[in-house]
Amino acid sequence: MLKPIFAANWKMNHGPTEARAFLREFLQQVPRSSDRTLAFFPPALTLHAVQEQLQDRHEILVGVQNVHHEASGAFTGETSVGMARDAGARLVLVGHSERRHVFGETDEQSAKKCELVVRAGLIPMLCVGEKLEEREAGQTEEVVLRQLEAGLSLLDAHHAGNALIAYEPVWAIGTGRTATPQDASTVHGAIRRWLRERVGDRALTMPILYGGSVNRGNAKLLLQAPDIDGLLVGGASLDAGNWAAIVTE
Ligand code: G3P
Repeated sequence: MLKPIFAANWKMNHGPTEARAFLREFLQQVPRSSDRTLAFFPPALTLHAVQEQLQDRHEILVGVQNVHHEASGAFTGETSVGMARDAGARLVLVGHSERRHVFGETDEQSAKKCELVVRAGLIPMLCVGEKLEEREAGQTEEVVLRQLEAGLSLLDAHHAGNALIAYEPVWAIGTGRTATPQDASTVHGAIRRWLRERVGDRALTMPILYGGSVNRGNAKLLLQAPDIDGLLVGGASLDAGNWAAIVTE
């Protein structure tokens, strides 16, 4: 079993002041441990405050929630992967469902982002997940594997094998409706089988995280299910005490 990854995606929450207060409280409650990996995806403007607050807790990874699919240029309001690296990010979320469905990010853009992220020496966390109507039409695996194939399409097997994957069914995000551990595990199993074809045995140790209405009541059960190697959490990661409880329980 891989050691579990607990990743907090703060989305558009927690500016620098709130993030400092959050981390002061969180770090007091969460001692260093080699049994788990922790990661935070704060808003880009909060990244610096998070780094400062983490000080010598280098075992905690920090990432950005998005980068632009071009390396640089006239893209007002956007963040480049080079800037993310310069600011201390080690991970980059790619293809989060809100990027895909609210901002219209395409599979092709996800692929370009993954390529830029890898070239910059950072690690992509590629997010995939089906919408409710796709699940109801029995298309879950087809959609998820298509997004996976497209997102990793510009990477060689070595770099694809270093990516992190997050399965986040769109209908479960922020809705309070979680996939059952069994349902999530089935999709994770399909992802792992596909990855094995693509990158070989490296797939056996590639972390596949689940995201979508994870909370204190379901986190442990999800992590016990086969092929669920970590959790990518939005709402339940916003309160320091609650997030500390989830990662330590
Ligand atoms: O990336 C995390 C995510 O989209 C899940 O959000 O609020 O349902 O935990 P939430």
